[in-house]
Amino acid sequence: MHVGIHDLSFATTEFVLPHTALAEHTGADIGKYHLGIGQRAMSVPAADEDIVTMAAAAAAPIIARWGVEKIRTVVLATESSIDQAKAAGVYVHSLLGLPSSTRVVEVKQACYAATAALQFAIGLVHRDPDQRVLVIASDVSRYELDSPGEATQGAAAAAMLVGADPALVRVENPAGLFTADVMDFWRPNYLTTALVAGQESITAYLQAVEGSWKDYTEQGGRRLTDFRAFCYHQPFTKMAYKAHRHLLRFTGADADEPQVTAALGLTTAYNEVVGNSYTASVYLALASLLDHADDLTDAPVALISYGSGSVAEFFAGTVAPGYRDHLRTTAHQTAVTRRKPISYDTYRALHSTTLPTDGGHHPVPEQTTGPYRLAALSDHKRIYEPR
Ligand code: CAA
Repeated sequence: MHVGIHDLSFATTEFVLPHTALAEHTGADIGKYHLGIGQRAMSVPAADEDIVTMAAAAAAPIIARWGVEKIRTVVLATESSIDQAKAAGVYVHSLLGLPSSTRVVEVKQACYAATAALQFAIGLVHRDPDQRVLVIASDVSRYELDSPGEATQGAAAAAMLVGADPALVRVENPAGLFTADVMDFWRPNYLTTALVAGQESITAYLQAVEGSWKDYTEQGGRRLTDFRAFCYHQPFTKMAYKAHRHLLRFTGADADEPQVTAALGLTTAYNEVVGNSYTASVYLALASLLDHADDLTDAPVALISYGSGSVAEFFAGTVAPGYRDHLRTTAHQTAVTRRKPISYDTYRALHSTTLPTDGGHHPVPEQTTGPYRLAALSDHKRIYEPR
């Protein structure tokens, strides 16, 4: 029995900040952003957007296409959680009109958690192939203003329907795993922006790629040359290139640049204009590949998920025959192009806005035009509204 990704849909924010506007403020040569880190723009959430509104917007088209009947589990992965206790997925469950006979849970391990959620979902489907699991990765990446990390922010949600006989990607066994207790990137509960040791985080990522690949081969995985493409976690798209060159060198393969570009070139189209969407990022890379490649039928594709702290997983999927009939290319492109460009000053004001903590009733300014919005904060409760 094949189990894997039956549908994949992503959503992002109302606003976008081009890196040209950031460069004007920081004084950086635009080449540093466009070429050095491989980023052109980043999604910026409006005041009435958060991980719940993005998650619901990403998942709604999946529900519209396949209905709710077989979904008995929702797993929402995030590192930008909105509540220490309640799972954000419960709000999403409500906004999507899912039945009460559903289990909903939130999982966290930096940018890696959605991959754990996907693997847990696959396990559930193996136990009962009639069931489907809705896995949603939703994150807002926020670093301090005027920090080096500022250029690598972004926000998006990727929703996946996981089931038997999947229409898009058959996820294979084995998976290569790697965990190391490192402090390369983290966010204590009392901070709204992440702490990061920039260059150390790049080294930690490369070591994790190496470690997860090593385990993947020890578990009997495919040869590197089997893969048509490699979807890496992309905190900035040049990171995928750094990682792939590192993997090629580690395995003694030829790090020939045209081959590197052929393996990665189609995976970066969404991330280079959305920015870092943390746990959603590797699935935006997959969406980009599926949406832009000519024909990947039966092609093995590698997925390399990395979450600082750190946990990494190297696994493979083969693209299902007929997958192109199920793609959401136009909707994905619209999600990117519909965003309104904002000035650096507007971005800075949004970045500095925090929700009131006094427990009063506070309507949230209506800035979005998407299907769901955060309407108010009242009595310490988030009030969401569908449009
Ligand atoms: N033209 C072309 N390239 C230029 C350039 C120019 N004018 N100016 C600089 N560059 C190049 C540099 O040579 C450098 O390239 P290499 O890395 O290949 O040497 C690149 O642009 C970036 O320059 P710097 O290293 O000087 O940039 P920086 O010090 O400002 O910071 C960063 C870069 C460390 C990625 C920083 O943005 C950061 O801390 N980001 C957050 C952390 C992060 O994303 N880490 C990734 C691994 S961790 C992870 O993956 C988890 C996660 O999601 C956070």
